[in-house]
Amino acid sequence: MDNRPIGVFDSGLGGLTAMRKLVEAMPNEDLIYLGDTGRVPYGGRSRDTIIKYARQDIEFLLSHNIKAIAVACGTVSTVALEQVAKEYDTPIFGVVEPAAWKAARLTKSGRIGIIGTVNSVASGAYDRAIQGFRPGSETFSKACPLFVPLVENGRIHRGDKVIEPVVEEYLSGLRDKNIDTLILGCTHYPLLSEVIGDFMGPDVNLVSPGAETAEYLIKKLKQADALADSDRQGSHRYYVTDSAEIFRRQASLFMDSDISGEVSETELL
Ligand code: DGL
Repeated sequence: MDNRPIGVFDSGLGGLTAMRKLVEAMPNEDLIYLGDTGRVPYGGRSRDTIIKYARQDIEFLLSHNIKAIAVACGTVSTVALEQVAKEYDTPIFGVVEPAAWKAARLTKSGRIGIIGTVNSVASGAYDRAIQGFRPGSETFSKACPLFVPLVENGRIHRGDKVIEPVVEEYLSGLRDKNIDTLILGCTHYPLLSEVIGDFMGPDVNLVSPGAETAEYLIKKLKQADALADSDRQGSHRYYVTDSAEIFRRQASLFMDSDISGEVSETELL
């Protein structure tokens, strides 16, 4: 048993797709979320900058005596995690393996699409992980850099005149490849599931990396006998590097309800 909090971080709001899963599944756990909202997006930045930001995010969470970290950011997971995770003793879980494992399990044809930020797609990390879980799979990827700012601006709904043509522009090529599974490789993208699902059609499975990582983390904590006491009520705290008020408003979109727990502004050093 371990009552220390679980840490979750993202460059912005997308990691709330993992947080939401943890809130629902783990009522006994204390959860601390960090959204680097002052510096989002990470997606087009250099590898060195992403590594520097990742260390700052991790060290902020470690200063809260956490027991494990979910890196609920596709960009950090694909670009920086291999190098950074080994610098710390605390277990750190990225989104790549859980999402790739799920996709490898769901696909029947072995034709898997991957969408993500420019850096995530260029890293090839999801493709490599899929090959490890299901050798011989064919992967097709596409960077979708406009999705993050559109999601952060709430352009996520079916019928929205801005998001629908952007989805078509980015995903037409993937639809033509006859994939049967698509990894939404940036944690913001599951907010577009409705629009992407409509466009790709009902036969394409969509994989949410944040939610898969939350499930994987829960499994690992169980195996290590490191879950919190079952008779305690968990607390939730949110830290952001830009306005707490704006975050609270936007977060309700991601969580499908108002977030419970205090939101504080912080600086990362
Ligand atoms: N949620 C981040 C990711 O999964 C957003 C991308 C960004 O910061 O550019 O990659």
